[in-house]
Amino acid sequence: METPQGAGIVKGIVLAGGSGSRLDPITRVASKQLQPVYDKPMIYYPLATLLQAGITEVMIISTPHDLPKFRDLLGDGSQWGIGLSYAVQPEPKGIAQAFLVGEQFIGGEPVTLILGDNIFYGRIGLEDVVASFDSGAYVFGYPVRDPQRYGVVEFDRDGKVRSLEEKPTHPKSKFAVPGLYVYDGDVVNVTNSIEPSARGELEITDVNKVYLDRGQLQVQLFDRGVAWLDSGTHDSLLEAANFIATVERRQSIKIACLEEIALRQGYLSHSALAASVAQMPISGYRTYLEGVLEEG
Ligand code: DAU
Repeated sequence: METPQGAGIVKGIVLAGGSGSRLDPITRVASKQLQPVYDKPMIYYPLATLLQAGITEVMIISTPHDLPKFRDLLGDGSQWGIGLSYAVQPEPKGIAQAFLVGEQFIGGEPVTLILGDNIFYGRIGLEDVVASFDSGAYVFGYPVRDPQRYGVVEFDRDGKVRSLEEKPTHPKSKFAVPGLYVYDGDVVNVTNSIEPSARGELEITDVNKVYLDRGQLQVQLFDRGVAWLDSGTHDSLLEAANFIATVERRQSIKIACLEEIALRQGYLSHSALAASVAQMPISGYRTYLEGVLEEG
């Protein structure tokens, strides 16, 4: 069934491929997005971001080698009351290639893309974007110390976007574009219209530039309370794990607990969750969910 324009977005893609070579040798065992971030695999975090925003049809894209492991871990999504499907990216030829791999899944409808190694904490406002999305493209901005490592967005005095650049040597601003993007169904055509970059990749920044040139790109800065955690190096992975552990211990809550989110969002009934928890091995994760069930 087609989603009418302005009726929001139900589809999301988690891009979880790439070589993960910067984390060698740990990525010889499992890909980066399957590595633990404190008490759960990394991919739980971007999946949680989508689920919390109301996205319930999700495609996971990864390498031919790693995709079966994601399927083993996440299944068909019915345990969370959502739909999960899987597709292979044969070679890492750029983030925007996700739209070509996922063309049939997208089916001309709006779609959210999140990178499988991007972890967000706090009120990012994606649910509002998703609920009211109509057309064009929507991305976020976040101030960082090292913008040259990212896609960088520059604003003019009135807060209008002036430029977008991918990993500029001399960044024009401190605002990085995080790996979370919202597009209308035209994104497949836009991706087909761009050329691979000097490094041979279909760059997501080039897709965003097309929308910018059309006057159809919106950029929203995250509120100050939002944390966008890096997981690209051993040190940043450890810092992300420590951040999650600190918040979880202090508040006695779990971040990115997919079962809890599914219950609170109404994707899963109380009794369905209780039945699934009963099947779980005895662990801190199960104990936590038993507490969630008791709360009602
Ligand atoms: O994290 C946000 C940044 O992500 C953005 O600010 C940049 O504009 C964007 O290009 C990207 O930069 P990265 O340097 O992080 O891109 P990287 O090549 O490391 O890929 C990011 C993730 O996407 C990584 O976990 C692997 C996955 N990936 C990447 C490519 C190029 C794929 O699954 N397939 C691919 O073809």
